Amino acid sequence: MEWGMRNRMNRMINPETGRIVMLAVDHGYFQGPTTGLRELSKTIDPLLPHADTLMITRGMVRNCVDPSNRVPIMLRVSGGTSILGELSHEGLTTDMEDAIRINACGITLSIFVGAPGEKETLLNLGKLCNMGARYGIPVMAVTAVGREMARDARYLGLASRIAVELGAHMVKTYYCEDFEQVVKAAPVPIVIAGGKKIAEKDALEMAWKAVQAGAAGVDMGRNIFQSEDPVAMIKAVRGVVHDNLNPGQAYEMFQDLKGKGA
Ligand code: 5RP
Repeated sequence: MEWGMRNRMNRMINPETGRIVMLAVDHGYFQGPTTGLRELSKTIDPLLPHADTLMITRGMVRNCVDPSNRVPIMLRVSGGTSILGELSHEGLTTDMEDAIRINACGITLSIFVGAPGEKETLLNLGKLCNMGARYGIPVMAVTAVGREMARDARYLGLASRIAVELGAHMVKTYYCEDFEQVVKAAPVPIVIAGGKKIAEKDALEMAWKAVQAGAAGVDMGRNIFQSEDPVAMIKAVRGVVHDNLNPGQAYEMFQDLKGKGA
């Protein structure tokens, strides 16, 4: 990996812990105004000091994040579909020059293995990795899960491995049973999505199990910004990811910080 690419990876993944807490707020690119993100700046301003990286689209970064903010940007560059249609036919929406203008630290797209858009999204991953290599910008593949797809180690392992084979520098997937099998077969930093909002205690336990199984951390959205106290929650997630707190300790931290304007 050349210097610029390594530097960008190190700005996102803390080189001291080898771990990352990425905050995902790109949901609007196919879901529109998601609960918690209707007024994006209001939600993310208090969270940004605690995020190692922010996953966002170019439209929202330009309109809702002050350029004086130093948080590294993982720019979502795929889309073109909505919850009203066939999600898997995503294309590339943002070219490399615009990603560079934004000073993106990484670029990301979804791949839909086993879905109608499988081939086009995998070829788009290949194209993006070629462009990333040209400019020294790492690519994160998101193993999106189609409506019919099982979230198990076999399927997520398949999708994650294909992503690495095609050149992805980082993979975002879901936590599942036997997650260490997914991690072992995909030799790049793996982060997990949080998925739908669940109880804070359960989300912290899921993050803990993922890092115990070898994940580099999380790229979590709804389980942070839809929490009853998002700042307390992101701090507790950091406790798990960077300080190796166990789920009980992290939940205690969340309870202690909750409601105190943490
Ligand atoms: C959608 C995405 C979203 O950023 C991601 O899934 C959101 O994270 P969470 O599931 O934790 O809300 O990549 O494809």
